[in-house]
Amino acid sequence: MTIELTVRKTCKRHRINTDLLLRRGRWLLRLNKVQDHTLSLLLIDDQEMSGLNAQWRHKPGPTNVLSFPSESATDPGLAGLGLKELGDIVISVDTAAREAEQYHETLHQRLTWLITHGLLHLLGMDHERSEGEAQAMYLREQQLIQQLQHAKDSTMTQLAINVDHVATIRQARGITEPDPVAAAAICELAGAAGIVVHLREDRRHIQDRDVHLLRQTIKTKMNLEMGAAREIIDIALALKPDMVTLVPEKRLELTTEGGLNVSGQKKKLGATIEEMSRAGIPVSLFIDPDSKQIKAARAIGATFVEIHTGRYCDATSEQERDLEFRLIAQAAEEAYDLGLRVNAGHGLDYQTTARIAALDSIEELSIGHAIITRAVFTGLDQAVREMHQIIREASRLG
Ligand code: PXP
Repeated sequence: MTIELTVRKTCKRHRINTDLLLRRGRWLLRLNKVQDHTLSLLLIDDQEMSGLNAQWRHKPGPTNVLSFPSESATDPGLAGLGLKELGDIVISVDTAAREAEQYHETLHQRLTWLITHGLLHLLGMDHERSEGEAQAMYLREQQLIQQLQHAKDSTMTQLAINVDHVATIRQARGITEPDPVAAAAICELAGAAGIVVHLREDRRHIQDRDVHLLRQTIKTKMNLEMGAAREIIDIALALKPDMVTLVPEKRLELTTEGGLNVSGQKKKLGATIEEMSRAGIPVSLFIDPDSKQIKAARAIGATFVEIHTGRYCDATSEQERDLEFRLIAQAAEEAYDLGLRVNAGHGLDYQTTARIAALDSIEELSIGHAIITRAVFTGLDQAVREMHQIIREASRLG
């Protein structure tokens, strides 16, 4: 399956994620069962599109998408040669960007729809032929876009496990057991791709000794969750975890409550990101699924955002849960489109995780409470394996 993607230099003013478009293009070929065909995809500006629109459709001005079926598909002489070429889809990115704004979509959502529309034309559908065909094409587009939302590449969503609760039990007795360091090793053996610990200023669970030992023993990836407080920043700079996740930290909260107000603290958070970057530590910002926070995270140089899934998990009706899910899906997509890497977490359990794990823009889920509490009854190894299985299956959807 080959997709030849060409982006004209004149489209440089738009930030285009070519990997994402290629991935979606490949899925569209697969979903239409033409994965053994080749497709050419050309992204141009309005000026070039106006020329093509005048030449081929005798219409003035630019249009959003044009499809040109391959000659081997339309010429009976060539058809017999068995060439598997679908043809060309040409899209004006300027028009796509205007439409995205008009329909409150991201640029890549609009481009995805235009590729879908263009591909259906190449496959013989035509909304201009009759009302009935217009309806059929519209329905097929909706169906494909919905299937795409669940389509993932072979890369599985990763499971990072937060072991703070193991330390909470230890601190309740003030002795040395259970040890979060041993817990981390069991999680890794059972399939975790990373370990998360939150070193709080009040040291209510994870201790300095833990982070130092974990830095030496974690084989996968150590994600240090922390508030942007001077003392903790200095510990992180010396420790050099694989990444840090900045969270808002309040003394009286039981667990991290809301996401960071990034747009209101750009200077402080930007300075912390800068310090971490100089030490080679990528930073993730824990935020609510909110466009303003995503744009601010991008603007101050975060590598990742972790999208807060708490409201989705705490929803008390299906309707509310669907709404919260859509907000997360939209936020993850927007962040990914902007070039951020996207994680998600908080409150996820054995019922709520699959839907989030199926979102193709999310790279990693951070889960603590549900796994550690299940471990009390089933053992930690079993609890991790069950969650791992849920994520693996959800990643394969589509
Ligand atoms: N992500 C962040 C930023 C968190 O603060 C927490 C809680 O420590 C989690 C994920 C994990 O949440 P839970 O323990 O509810 O799975």
